[in-house]
Amino acid sequence: MLLSEYAKQILYGEKFSDKIQDLPEKIDFDESCVLALPKTPGRDHKLQISPENIKFPKGHFHELEKKAIALHSFANHELLAIEMMACALLIYPHHTPELKKFKQGVISSLVDEQKHLKLYVERLNELGYEFGDFKLNDFFWKYMPKLKTPASYLSVMALTFEAANLDFAFFYQNVFLELGDKKTADILATVLKDEISHVGFGVHFLNKWKEDKSLWNYYNELLPYPLTPARAKGKNFIEHVRKKAKMDEDFIQKIKHFDDNFAITKRKEWKK
Ligand SMILES: [Fe+2]
Ligand SMILES: [Fe+2]
Repeated sequence: MLLSEYAKQILYGEKFSDKIQDLPEKIDFDESCVLALPKTPGRDHKLQISPENIKFPKGHFHELEKKAIALHSFANHELLAIEMMACALLIYPHHTPELKKFKQGVISSLVDEQKHLKLYVERLNELGYEFGDFKLNDFFWKYMPKLKTPASYLSVMALTFEAANLDFAFFYQNVFLELGDKKTADILATVLKDEISHVGFGVHFLNKWKEDKSLWNYYNELLPYPLTPARAKGKNFIEHVRKKAKMDEDFIQKIKHFDDNFAITKRKEWKK
């Protein structure tokens, strides 16, 4: 199957089954077709993106609905990651062996995100809910038009959103463990393990492309407005998982201490 065919089905396909379609046995890197970005990915009515935002619960995850909203929100993020990865396969060129390797890395992350999406949705179903029962947003997708190069894509996807997910996955794994919900905790453990390799993939390529700059400076140059490094972390900053993702010590400490007074994340309550 052609790479573009595979990626288009995921990006433009409207059904859930399009989003989780299996990787074909063989992928041919066709002439890289640089596409105009669609305004939104293909979505049938059940997966429609809503401008309304459903509030992520602040706690009480023992309540069935709160747990379901949390799982639904995680699944939403996986779906957006899948579509953005499919988009990355379509909008960047791959005329060099290095860019082909970059795309192979994107494909391997995409396959993991599909696994995560399926795990979350299966768990939702076990709890009596369906994907699409709550509002879905396009938070990550909104940045796609700003990601003009593979490097800017990695700065946002791997070093910001997926890096923040290291903290979130670690945090919520423990939340659900404490509640005795080992099934959900195990899903978050799987996500965390995979996420480390996705962040590591970004670190690997940005280190290659940064030339004589520090990763920190290069990352900040790449990050499109209005994102700041505040988006690259969760409430609890977990250093050791970042080390596993091969972030250098200088980078880890600068992210850790970065403070824009939560102008972007609007998570001022974290400071309390
Ligand atoms: Fe994921
Ligand atoms: Fe990921």
